[in-house]
Amino acid sequence: MPLLGLAALLALGDAAAGRAVFMGKGGCVTCHSVDNRGGSVGPDLSEIGLRRAPESLRLSIVDPSAEIYQEYFTVSAVTRDGQRIEGIALNEDDLSIQLRDAGGTPRSFLKTNLKDLRREERSLMPSFATTLSPAEKEHVVAYLRVLRGVPAAQRPRTREIARVSENITWLTRPSRDGNERPEALLDALQIQQGATVVDLGAGAGYFTWRLARRVGPRGKVIAVDIQRQMLDLVSEEVKKHALANVEPVLGGPGDPRLPVGAVDLVLIANAYHEFSDPEAIMASVHRSLKLDGRVVLVEYSKENPRVPISELHRMSFAEIRSEVESAGFELTRVLDFLPMQHGLIFTKRQ
Ligand code: HEC
Repeated sequence: MPLLGLAALLALGDAAAGRAVFMGKGGCVTCHSVDNRGGSVGPDLSEIGLRRAPESLRLSIVDPSAEIYQEYFTVSAVTRDGQRIEGIALNEDDLSIQLRDAGGTPRSFLKTNLKDLRREERSLMPSFATTLSPAEKEHVVAYLRVLRGVPAAQRPRTREIARVSENITWLTRPSRDGNERPEALLDALQIQQGATVVDLGAGAGYFTWRLARRVGPRGKVIAVDIQRQMLDLVSEEVKKHALANVEPVLGGPGDPRLPVGAVDLVLIANAYHEFSDPEAIMASVHRSLKLDGRVVLVEYSKENPRVPISELHRMSFAEIRSEVESAGFELTRVLDFLPMQHGLIFTKRQ
């Protein structure tokens, strides 16, 4: 049997050993919580394995400031008597600021008592580049990768199917690119040339032609909708972009008419919430996918109060996850850069 090289061995990091470092030597748990246990200086990591790729997790550990959200910028305050306090901002108004310092203690200051107050684009988290061994770092990454939260219990959800005319105005609105970032979304999916992709609930073809361009002339996009009027719009859009690799399919309410075992990826963008028989559709999607096929759900977020859409046309993260997982899928990745939508990637449960 050939021996594994050191790099390959390390890449096999052990999640149990990683958990021990997280709770012990690394001190991660003093700043981060997992399943409601731990500190709150840094973000909760209960679902970090869904939100970050392994490379990004590695980077967080060795260079915490490399990727950092504004709400986690380090606030540095100097009091009139020269004491410096660093922390994460909890609250701020004209007169005062509340911080949580690196030890987890909340601190409150009147601004008149501060000599200096600034936000710096660096992390309060120390780098573990040298304080953890290469093997320990890989163990920690292995541990973080298995943190995938727990599916919520399924709850009944109200469904409403919008009228066609209303849909078209909505589907072709000029602000849509800014709201949905379609190219960034498709970049993240890393769709291969030659792939067979389904655009399920294709609507006016907003994603269809973009997918067709990505799979290239050797690939194929099956555009499914239950409204013939939509498929006509899809065909127009495809022609407009001089593409010839799209097959329009008129689906039934409980049957998207997909080929079996032949599909690499099914994109269901802003459509799942309108399915009148989601169980039947998802069973059919499951059958259509190759073993390593993926299904991607994109829905406007019910949790985000700034989304200007009726609640009936939005879904919560828990609703999407629980409904799709109960159809024989497993959530493997969450896209967190969509401004108003949830983006969830599922694979078939093995
Ligand atoms: C002193 C507190 C502190 C300690 C100790 C700490 N972290 Fe962090 N961590 C933070 C803060 C604050 C952030 C948010 C800013 C940033 O992204 O760096 C963060 C961010 C992260 C992120 C990125 C989270 C995201 O949503 O992208 C990961 C992953 C992470 N830490 C893992 C670890 C691990 C693993 C350890 C232990 C080896 C650790 N942290 C120790 C404070 C800490």
